[in-house]
Amino acid sequence: MNPMFLPEHGGPDDGLPVVHDFSTNASAFGPPPALMHAVQRADRSCYPDPHYRALRRHLDRTEGHGELVLPTAGGAEGIRRMTMAAMLAGRREVWVPQPGFGDYTLAAQALGLAVRPYASPSDIRPSAPALVWICEPCNPTGASVATWPALDALVVVDRAYEPLRLQGDAPAPPPGAWQLICPNKALGLTGVRAGYLVAPAADTVWAHALSLAPSWVLSAEGVALLMQWPSDDTQAWLANARIQLREWTARQRALLAGLDWLQRPSCTNFWLVRPPRPDIGLRLREHGIQLRDAASFGLPGWVRISAQPPAAQQALQRALLDIEGEDA
Ligand SMILES: Cc1ncc(COP(=O)(O)O)c(C=O)c1O
Repeated sequence: MNPMFLPEHGGPDDGLPVVHDFSTNASAFGPPPALMHAVQRADRSCYPDPHYRALRRHLDRTEGHGELVLPTAGGAEGIRRMTMAAMLAGRREVWVPQPGFGDYTLAAQALGLAVRPYASPSDIRPSAPALVWICEPCNPTGASVATWPALDALVVVDRAYEPLRLQGDAPAPPPGAWQLICPNKALGLTGVRAGYLVAPAADTVWAHALSLAPSWVLSAEGVALLMQWPSDDTQAWLANARIQLREWTARQRALLAGLDWLQRPSCTNFWLVRPPRPDIGLRLREHGIQLRDAASFGLPGWVRISAQPPAAQQALQRALLDIEGEDA
């Protein structure tokens, strides 16, 4: 297979052991205990309801999406399925944020659709029926757009990091936009593959996205996670997590500024940094610390880093001093 079509992500890989993982966007605050307990108690002895009726009713009752919720095996599966549904509904171009999450592009390329990168909303000018991906806030930048204009396209807002927005408010989505909700990152449970799409109407695209789902697309653990997701307990835990992540972010930014790392603004728990030397990611890995190289986002020399607890930050600082010592 052409390695160009293999996605690159932060998080676990096949390399040296990692003690402190700054490469993942997942919340370092970890999962809410009650939700974690529900996931662990999930009944694996039988299939979930293939139509996820109780889950969809629950999300409707708590969030008000009606019949328009489509459970997915995480955001990544939702992106693939939505791209296929868009193609079947006649969309020929896929507009993707640049820099942005690579799966939008890979899903479009796999289906032979034209990929159109955009840096800001004003760049989006479809010349054929189009699917537009919006990532609010955006991975890898942590950037957010103040106002999204109306777009003459099928629009999906990927809200993977909305619960990890540490500053400011979410902008209103363009009218008629779909939403992709994948809370496992905010819940510190990325190993549980669970998310959902919300359609604006039961239209042709919705019918395609519904019929393209494999049977039992969402596991028993995934159902348990999503059942707990809207609860007051989970939302209170998340509010607390944001307070803690804000503090860790400020502390980590101060540490990196003191070491002359260039840093871009971000409203989330992750952001782009440019270390003073390009080999630092590889060297830190030898010390059990992982960063996310941003070259695959079109940003050579940059890395994406997430806020980690003080102990991990101290380990990062120590490792950087050790590397300096090794090179002296
Ligand atoms: C913007 C964005 N959307 C979706 C995903 C997919 O996440 P998952 O499949 O774990 O829900 C990710 C994962 O990194 C992401 O960064």
